[in-house]
Amino acid sequence: MLKTVKKLKNGLNGEITIPADKSISHRAVMFSSIAKGNCIIKNFSSGADCHSTLNIFKQLGTDIEFIDEKTLSVKSDGILKQSQTPLDAGNSGTTTRLISGILAGQNFDSVIIGDESLSKRPMKRIIEPLTLMGANIESVDGHAPLTIHGQKLHGIIYPSKLASAQVKSCILLAGLYAEGKTTVTEPFVSRNHTELMLNYLGADINSYGNSVTISPSELTAKDINIVGDISSAAFFIVAGLIVPNSGFKIKNVGLNPTRAGIIDIVQRMNGQIKILNKRSESGEDTGDIQVQYCESLKGCSIEGNDIPRLIDELPVIAVLASQAEGKTIIKNAEDLRNKESDRIKCLVSELTKIGINITETEDGFIIEGKTQIKGGAELESYHDHRLAMSFYIAGLIAEKEISINGFEWTKISFPEFENLICQLSD
Ligand code: S3P
Repeated sequence: MLKTVKKLKNGLNGEITIPADKSISHRAVMFSSIAKGNCIIKNFSSGADCHSTLNIFKQLGTDIEFIDEKTLSVKSDGILKQSQTPLDAGNSGTTTRLISGILAGQNFDSVIIGDESLSKRPMKRIIEPLTLMGANIESVDGHAPLTIHGQKLHGIIYPSKLASAQVKSCILLAGLYAEGKTTVTEPFVSRNHTELMLNYLGADINSYGNSVTISPSELTAKDINIVGDISSAAFFIVAGLIVPNSGFKIKNVGLNPTRAGIIDIVQRMNGQIKILNKRSESGEDTGDIQVQYCESLKGCSIEGNDIPRLIDELPVIAVLASQAEGKTIIKNAEDLRNKESDRIKCLVSELTKIGINITETEDGFIIEGKTQIKGGAELESYHDHRLAMSFYIAGLIAEKEISINGFEWTKISFPEFENLICQLSD
């Protein structure tokens, strides 16, 4: 689907509520399916990725029903059953990598399949540590489809080369079913939703510095209220900062410090942003964000431990950086090449088409601002939801209209995206 975006004449104003966090929605369904008891999950994501997880756990025997559009009832005795048909993870890396950890320690076999993009994403990063734990996994040269022959596992101490929550979570989930303790250490701390939720459901799990240790534990079901997704809010934070005459409130945004890197970056860039009404929901920080147009943004460096705290926000941060005076340098983000698309290469090729001064580096990119975005081009989303939404935000300030090919991929994480833009621009 080709979507055309025109420059906004007036700013974005009013108030919106951000839908549920994708990472936490996945975990809520997974962990309540392996927990004993009944629970209610409130504010579940409407994104296609989270629905892939939900359908998989139904296939694995969990009783999951919708009470309304965003509320689930989950009933489980904590025991999964073999599925007679392959488990389809669709476009979702989180689903594939996290359930691999759960399935590796079951007493049955499973097959995980996915779409074309998922089948190109690297799975060696989880196959290696799981194999060290005793798992038996067949792949197609390190890619999905994965055939997981359930085995008895044993705990390991694993120094991960990557700061990846998917890798860390996969190992910790396998550790739930393994004999002895399992420890994962990462170079920088990645998002800790798995640790927080497992702890909330009663697992024996402890974090210290960059390490997490888990012991085999039984989980007890508990109601979960999912906070809003900061990665979805990021598109609105950037829009508010760069679209002249904008000023609005974004309600219920998850503010977990291991995810909230974009807030620090906006402050580093001199952006106008305020956090209001900070509180906690089911173990996760949340609050409201007031954002204001800012004429005096300045470039900055984003690297090292910043990266895992804003990895998914880098495409829209590139658009923000184009409106900041001076250079913005993004380093140590080489894993962006392994996301739903090669986000470094695709961002550089598409943003260049609309007049943004962006240079590719091996592990990131450099943007030189401030540029008037020209527009007048058709951009390719490469079937990547976050690229499609980032290009849309650029279109709101471009001189000439921008067309985005494959805009329907926004349904993967944020089907409400365009309606919320309309809500603020009406
Ligand atoms: C996620 C972790 C990140 C992120 C992805 C969701 C998660 O991936 O990019 O969108 O829910 O654990 P990596 O762990 O591969 O960095």
